[in-house]
Amino acid sequence: MTRELRATGVRMQFGGVVALQDASIAVSPGRIHGLIGRNGSGKSTLFNCITGFLQPTAGRITVDGQVVTGWAPHRLVRAGVARTFQTPRVDMRSSVREAVLAGFYSTLRSGFMAAMLGLPSARSEERRLRDAAAQLMEQLGLLPLAGSEIGRLSMGQVRLVEVARCLAAGARYVLLDEPAAGLTRKEQALLAQQIRALAARGIGVLLVEHNFGLIRALCDEVTVLETGRVLSTGTPDAVAGDARVVESYLGRAEASEDEAAVRPVREAA
Ligand SMILES: Nc1ncnc2c1ncn2[C@@H]1O[C@H](COP(=O)(O)OP(=O)(O)OP(=O)(O)O)[C@@H](O)[C@H]1O
Ligand SMILES: [Mg+2]
Repeated sequence: MTRELRATGVRMQFGGVVALQDASIAVSPGRIHGLIGRNGSGKSTLFNCITGFLQPTAGRITVDGQVVTGWAPHRLVRAGVARTFQTPRVDMRSSVREAVLAGFYSTLRSGFMAAMLGLPSARSEERRLRDAAAQLMEQLGLLPLAGSEIGRLSMGQVRLVEVARCLAAGARYVLLDEPAAGLTRKEQALLAQQIRALAARGIGVLLVEHNFGLIRALCDEVTVLETGRVLSTGTPDAVAGDARVVESYLGRAEASEDEAAVRPVREAA
């Protein structure tokens, strides 16, 4: 069995709008695969199809060889596929610890009810989860913020909480939709470190990111989308040298400014 998360020939149609057409991408454990393309090229839509938030019009999603097309998001989380959102979706009033614990609970079937009822077995389970949450928060540098309300954190910290929640849910594949957006350079460098650490732990990462400098610093492979189709796939260098990609995406002034802005990340890399 091939260990990988794979989307094959995905088509997504919204009425008359074809957002994705024959789009394919794959990521293996321990690898970082970047997904780039202009605004509206279909990146988030592909993530939504892979993580069960949208049912693709056609195509197939597999996790380690098992067909999971059309599975609900919570079922995919149990299968090891978790994600973050372009706009973070966390309860801003909960604490960092509660948000991470919620990630653990998402994988338990009856545990949460037992915990509510205060059963002795549930209490030891609760302790085990709290320890695991503390360990995870420590790994991501969030432990000093465990009791803080998420609404009071910086965007960089909120995005790390989202990553922690994916890991708490036992994700083997993590999809990050523009995790560096709105982050300071220092936070970007920290996030880049954490993404590398995920891969070093054997997690497969799919990463949507506009900043090609960051993509280059992190990714083993890159897929470029253009109006819903895959324009190019390869190493960051190969993709950067692909004339069609330069013309469609990298050649634009905005992209080169992005690249200039990421230099500190590369130095820290
Ligand atoms: N729920 C929806 N209903 C209708 N059209 C949609 C829906 N979601 C996305 N689209 C359309 O699909 C196309 C791809 O959008 P998508 O959000 O996937 O792009 P993106 O590459 O993530 O862009 P960005 O870089 O701005 O985040 C766009 O034309 C968008 O308007
Ligand atoms: Mg998007």
